[in-house]
Amino acid sequence: MPASFPSTRHRRLRQSSWIRQIVAETALAVDDLILPIFIREDSLPAAPLPYKPFYRYSLNELPKILEEALTSGISAIMLFPVIESAKKDQHGSEACNANGLLAQALRLIKQINLPIGLFVDVALDPYTSHGHDGVIINNKIDNDATVEHLTELALILADAGADALAPSDMMDGRVGAIRKALDHKGFSDRLIISYTAKYASSFYGPFRTVVGAHTLTGLIDKKTYQMDPRNAREALQEAIFDINEGADMLIVKPGLPYLDIISELSQKTATPILAYHVSGEYMMVKTAAEAGYIDEKNAFIESCIAFKRAGARSIITYAALDIVKWLNKS
Ligand code: PBG
Repeated sequence: MPASFPSTRHRRLRQSSWIRQIVAETALAVDDLILPIFIREDSLPAAPLPYKPFYRYSLNELPKILEEALTSGISAIMLFPVIESAKKDQHGSEACNANGLLAQALRLIKQINLPIGLFVDVALDPYTSHGHDGVIINNKIDNDATVEHLTELALILADAGADALAPSDMMDGRVGAIRKALDHKGFSDRLIISYTAKYASSFYGPFRTVVGAHTLTGLIDKKTYQMDPRNAREALQEAIFDINEGADMLIVKPGLPYLDIISELSQKTATPILAYHVSGEYMMVKTAAEAGYIDEKNAFIESCIAFKRAGARSIITYAALDIVKWLNKS
């Protein structure tokens, strides 16, 4: 065997930290991270799960967590409301209360005028007694009635100061309807971040506990509107429609099991893609780390790097504040 064998040695590029740094194709930065924040009505308990990212903030407590996000360098937050069950009904009527919890929260944040992006999830599941993301008519989730309801909610939230509306329902035509209504009412500057490829997933469990939106089992299944995990080509079709209807960014959700979808959409569209590392994924890392099986810090950072490598521009993650601390330290 000649002394020079092999002539190409991949390990030359891995032999020290500085060279790995120079050839790294992907970087993770603090401003790649979007922090989900749950807000609650005062009468509700604050901590349904013993993990800080799932804490439910009252309106009074909101400024503190926002300042924490801002000072740590987070670019945007995504708000999710937790509503008293007494206010929930079949139609999710409370969603259209112009002085509802989310609208109040947005007004409050606008008042303190923090330079941070305000995203809101536009969905009915926090407001419906059955936990579905849509209006039920004749025992089915009615697409067009739901779109009408969501459009009204989006307008209320835009009026209260949301920078970006993120419809997470998977109804057909909702992006176009919301865009049209926003433009008509003078909100042409507001972004629509569409949950384009949202799969009917088993990884949303902790979120549903936090929001108190466990779907009642019966004839209707979230599978009648969220995507089938067996399908990939359909995600591209959804993306093309959302882009044509006016979506400014696309969300793929959940995250790690759907890296192929992120990759496909990032190669075939030019619209920025957000990965949503969802609640169940967060819990898997967290509980495995607590049991001593994996290193939490490295697992979260590696997950975010994988999203970026696949083609995501930014990441919605419950671990955002922790990741920021780790990145700022290293
Ligand atoms: C519903 C919504 C869900 C999540 C975000 N928005 C749950 C669902 O579709 O049932 C899940 C997020 C997570 O698990 O972190 N509008």
